[in-house]
Amino acid sequence: MIQDSHVLRCTGCARVIALADLKENFRCPECSDLYEVEYPTWSESYGKGANEANTPGTGLRQGPPNVAALRWLWKERRSSTELKDQSGVWRFRELLPILRDEQHIVSLREGNTPLYHMTRTADRSGADRIFAKHQGMNPTGSFKDTGMTTALSVAYERGFSWVACASTGNTSAAMAAYAARAGMRSLVLIPEGKIAWGKLSQALDYGALTIQLKTDFDGCVRVLSDVVRRAPVYLLNSVNPYRLEGQKTPALEIAEQMNWEIPDHLIVPGGNLANGSALGKAFLEMKHLGLTDRVPRISIVQAEGANPLYRAMRDFNGEKLIAVEANTRASAIRIGNPASWKKAVKIIRATGGWVEEASEAEIALAKAEIGAEGIGCEPASAVTMVGLKKLMAAGRIDVSESVVLLLTGHTLKDSDYTISYHRGTLLSEDELAPLDREIELTRRNTIELEADAEAVLRELERAAGH
Ligand code: F0G
Repeated sequence: MIQDSHVLRCTGCARVIALADLKENFRCPECSDLYEVEYPTWSESYGKGANEANTPGTGLRQGPPNVAALRWLWKERRSSTELKDQSGVWRFRELLPILRDEQHIVSLREGNTPLYHMTRTADRSGADRIFAKHQGMNPTGSFKDTGMTTALSVAYERGFSWVACASTGNTSAAMAAYAARAGMRSLVLIPEGKIAWGKLSQALDYGALTIQLKTDFDGCVRVLSDVVRRAPVYLLNSVNPYRLEGQKTPALEIAEQMNWEIPDHLIVPGGNLANGSALGKAFLEMKHLGLTDRVPRISIVQAEGANPLYRAMRDFNGEKLIAVEANTRASAIRIGNPASWKKAVKIIRATGGWVEEASEAEIALAKAEIGAEGIGCEPASAVTMVGLKKLMAAGRIDVSESVVLLLTGHTLKDSDYTISYHRGTLLSEDELAPLDREIELTRRNTIELEADAEAVLRELERAAGH
């Protein structure tokens, strides 16, 4: 029998579960908390002197790794012709040995996304080193691809025919694409009328069984947890710890792209609250292995109308979370009862980060500002820019520090939002009032003219005067 290279440890009661006993909802049968993947040969928290698994292909046995060799290897793989090397997730496979056989990798060549220097934001804020790590530049247009390649490969390896998720849109798009690549079937549950069209169209395009339920995202999660108990479908929501192993890799890329100088801060949008902890896990593992010498502060930003973590930190010091009825136009993060909130609290505490919230007008303005850099993103990603402004205003981020904003989704995911913004129909007057002037300056509605060069030239002249 091949020995597994990893174990799953409950983040609540710390028990390790045998992989064969894992429940279909990925919750601990003892305390219902979520699991985290650990690697006996090198994870920090695993019991000292743990069995030294002789795992083919991990390359990391007990003892310090050869840091320079690993860095070189990961970079070198980018010029290989092999799929597992070209993937920006699997080229870091020494840090995510979750498969028994690499032949089971299902990949769309995800990852390897750009890190942009945000020069206009830098000019406006006075801070020079502001960057955007654009996870919207993944094959299906969101950060979900990095976690989908890992978790869906596990499902494939374990012989499932069906995979399923409840989603605000991006997870379903990613899952449907990867399932199609593997020749598997996928079941998508989405809240009726509450996801962006671009995302819905992707699920259909990639052939998912797509069901709109008359409820919100949290309601979809409830229904799906019943479904996975009663049918042999593999759950691919972010409660699945294998998702997070793939979602670690943008942190490795950031480190690599910054020449292994870790940024001072990383700002991440918060919805179901898994992603911040995945990135945090990667930074902690890198430090533990000696690849880097510190971790960034990780801060999480929620929409004001979907801010259960913000309230949990403000009102209960992160000890308790009360679900809210979520409402925001940033539909990707319209989540009132986030599954991974405890993991998020842990990572904020472990790294010394904060939680912020963003109003609808703040999100809309920030999205326009990111667009004006020639970068663009979907609304949920823009909360990171609001977080940056607020943390700078509060003196928590200094102009001398380096900051990475994690942009999670592509601007084309939700073009209706962008068009409404520029038409001036997105926000109510009350929402708009505090930022009326700033928003007005960023709006660029289309101009309709007769087909006449004179008319176009007049507009050109007018625009050049601004
Ligand atoms: N940004 C985007 C674009 C998202 O789609 C999501 C989550 C998040 C941020 C939040 O990440 O849940 O790890 O805190 N979207 C999920 C979905 C819920 O179904 O696509 P998180």
